[in-house]
Amino acid sequence: MSRLSTARILLTVLRAGNARARLRATRDGQAAVRLNTGAAAVRTGVLDALAGGPAATSELARRLGTPEEDLLAAFLRVLESVGLVRAEDGGRWSLTAGGRAVADDDLVRASHEAFAGFHTGLYRELEPLLAGGPRRRDVVEHGGVIARVSTAFEPFVDDVLRETVAAVAPRRVLDVGCGAGLQLATMLATAPRAEGVGVDADADAADLARRTLADRGLAGRSQVLRGDVRDLVGGAEAPFDLVLLANVVYYVPVGERVALLRSLAELIAPGGTLLVVTTVATPQLTSRHFDLLLRAQEGATELPHTDVLVGQLVQAGLEPAAPRRIAPGMPLVAVAVVRPG
Ligand SMILES: C[S@@+](CC[C@H](N)C(=O)[O-])C[C@H]1O[C@@H](n2cnc3c(N)ncnc32)[C@H](O)[C@@H]1O
Repeated sequence: MSRLSTARILLTVLRAGNARARLRATRDGQAAVRLNTGAAAVRTGVLDALAGGPAATSELARRLGTPEEDLLAAFLRVLESVGLVRAEDGGRWSLTAGGRAVADDDLVRASHEAFAGFHTGLYRELEPLLAGGPRRRDVVEHGGVIARVSTAFEPFVDDVLRETVAAVAPRRVLDVGCGAGLQLATMLATAPRAEGVGVDADADAADLARRTLADRGLAGRSQVLRGDVRDLVGGAEAPFDLVLLANVVYYVPVGERVALLRSLAELIAPGGTLLVVTTVATPQLTSRHFDLLLRAQEGATELPHTDVLVGQLVQAGLEPAAPRRIAPGMPLVAVAVVRPG
């Protein structure tokens, strides 16, 4: 193609409409396809099947139990074009380094599952929601994936958590909505004589937490209960020297938050600490999106504004320290509250 005709085409494209909006739509569309391709590669088991070693399409179809070899071959070509698999000499397929990075990293797998699934499903189903249709039940239906995706926050929570454990020197810790159990494990590893209880409403998350604690040799000093914290607080064996509420408060209906914070405070020994970590409402896209996702759920949930959360802690009879942003550029806040001795 000559330079002149390339320039003429470019000019036609630029004059045809809003070039920036058109380019963005195409680019975002391709990113969406890429995300869904990765999610499908995880969901169909293609990546796991190839993690066992290279295979021809027919062998792969046998491993996956699919009769649709043509469709599988076309899907593999898509995976090749996004860089997850490669075709080797002899017609066999193998994982690229990028494909292996998805297959081997549970956070990457869970992120594909969550973002291609309920996170973007929200927008596909917004019309019936706006028409007054039934609300979403993501925590009930996807609790395990939510717990796995939340592990992305762990490095940011880690510092403040270790610092708090060092200051409190707890003998008993409670992790409310413990998810994958990483933070309960950190608290117990940082306080080698402490015992800990994790509570999570989701069965998959509770199992995951038990596995995390067992893998780290902490099963003997910990217990993971499955249940809603609002039902368990009265029954939990108090007192605790440190109670962690990390990325959970926004799943509790707004009208119930003060009562929850008050009952958690009652579980804390005098001089002990409640540490609240949460994503907060800001104008950032991640925050706005998550707030909409929460508002679309059953029950009146939403992301807290930092000052509103502080007000709720005060209403619960507590004296919170100044909130701290704990992740650069991200709407993640930690608030520590010491129960007077
Ligand atoms: C976003 S994850 C956070 C997990 C972990 N705390 C972290 O920071 O990585 C929220 C967890 O809270 C659990 N959860 C939500 N509402 C709960 C409730 N009312 N009682 C107990 N667990 C709850 C969910 O099942 C999920 O595992």
